[in-house]
Amino acid sequence: MTTDLPPARNVIAHPAADRARDRLGRPMHDLRISVMDRCNFRCPYCMPKETFHDRYRFLRATERLGFEEIVRIARAGIALGVRKLRLTGGEPLLRADLSDLVAELSILEGVEDLALTTNGVLLAQHAAELKGNGLHRVTVSLDTLDPDVFSSMSGGFGGVEQVLDGIAAALDAGLNPVKVNVVVRRGVNDHTVLTLLERFRGTAVIVRLIEYMDVGNRNAWQPHEVVPSAELLAAIRERWPVTARPGEYRGEVAERYRYDDGAGEIGFISSVSAPFCGACSRARLSSEGVLYTCLFATSGTDLRARLRAGATDEELLDLLRGAWARRDDRYSERRGELRKHQTLHKIEMHYIGG
Ligand SMILES: C[S@@+](CC[C@H](N)C(=O)[O-])C[C@H]1O[C@@H](n2cnc3c(N)ncnc32)[C@H](O)[C@@H]1O
Ligand code: SF4
Repeated sequence: MTTDLPPARNVIAHPAADRARDRLGRPMHDLRISVMDRCNFRCPYCMPKETFHDRYRFLRATERLGFEEIVRIARAGIALGVRKLRLTGGEPLLRADLSDLVAELSILEGVEDLALTTNGVLLAQHAAELKGNGLHRVTVSLDTLDPDVFSSMSGGFGGVEQVLDGIAAALDAGLNPVKVNVVVRRGVNDHTVLTLLERFRGTAVIVRLIEYMDVGNRNAWQPHEVVPSAELLAAIRERWPVTARPGEYRGEVAERYRYDDGAGEIGFISSVSAPFCGACSRARLSSEGVLYTCLFATSGTDLRARLRAGATDEELLDLLRGAWARRDDRYSERRGELRKHQTLHKIEMHYIGG
C-alpha cells in the first residue's frame, strides 16, 4: 500500500497494526505518560525530601521527551490497542505548556479517554484551559482534609484549600467525573478518612482509597503501614451502608461501591491485599522516554534513544510490540517472594507516575 501521509501518521493508518498481547494474554489498553519527573510536593511515601533534596539531579529539559516524541509513542500505542491515555508525573502541571500536549493527544484517532493525575495545587489556574484543549477528566490526589496531616503527607508543601479550589475549578470546567485519590497510611491519615468521605458525599467527586504501596526504593515501606481495604470498608459500613457495583471494564483497578442512600460512589484500590495483576493492561512511559510494563519494574525499554537515532514509526511499533510481547510482570501477586531479594531496584514512582 502506498500513502502520501507523512511518516508520523503511518502507524495509526497501518492496517497491519494489531492488538498487542503479553505473555499472560493481557492486552495493552492504557498508556500512562509521565511528563515531568519534578514535583512541587515531597510526599514521604513517594519523594521523601531526604533523597529528593535541593541538590537532587532531576532530568534536564532536553532529557525529557518532547511533545512530538510523546505523541509519536502514543500513536504507536494506539495502533497496538491503547485506548486510555493518562498524563502524570512527578507533577504534570509543572510541565510548561502541558495543555498544548493535551490538544495534540486529544485529536488522536482511537483515544477514548484522556485523563490527568495531579496533586491539585496548580489545577485551579489550568482546569479551564485543559478542558478547552480536550482533556476528558482529572484525578486529584488529596490524602486528608486535616491541615497538619496534609502537611506531613505532602512534605510541608501546598495546602488543603488550594487542592479543594483545584477540585472545584475542575468541576466548574466540566472535567467530570473528578476522582480523588487518597493514599491511606496506618497511623498517619487513617483516622481522617471518614471526614474526607463525608466532605465529598453528595457531590460529583468519587473518592478512591488506595492501599499504601512499596513503590520505588526510597519510602522505607513496611507492610504494617498498609490499611487493608476490607478494614476500611468495615469502618465505612458502620457509618454509611454501601453496596458493591460491578466493574465497568476488564482491567479496572478500583473495586467500586455505591452509598445506599444515593450519596454517590467510592472506590478501593487494593494492590497489596488483593492484587489485580491478572487483568493489568497498563504500559508506562517515563519522563525520559523509557517504556515500563509494570509499576514495580526494575528495567524498561529505552524508546528515546531509538527515536533520537532516527527510528521510523514501523520500528517504533515493533519496539513497543516486542516489549509488550515479553511482558510477564505480576509483581503485586509475587510481592512476598520478590521482596526477599534485597537487590531488587525498582524504578522510582515520580519517573513513571501512579
Ligand atoms: C506519583 S503521583 C503523580 C501525580 C501527581 N503528582 C499526584 O500526586 O497526583 C500519582 C499517584 O500515585 C500515588 N502514590 C504515590 N506514592 C504512592 C505509594 N507509595 N502508594 C500508593 N500510592 C502512591 C499518589 O498518591 C498519586 O495519587
Ligand atoms: S505523590 Fe504526586 S505530589 Fe506526592 S511527591 Fe509523588 S509525584 Fe509529588
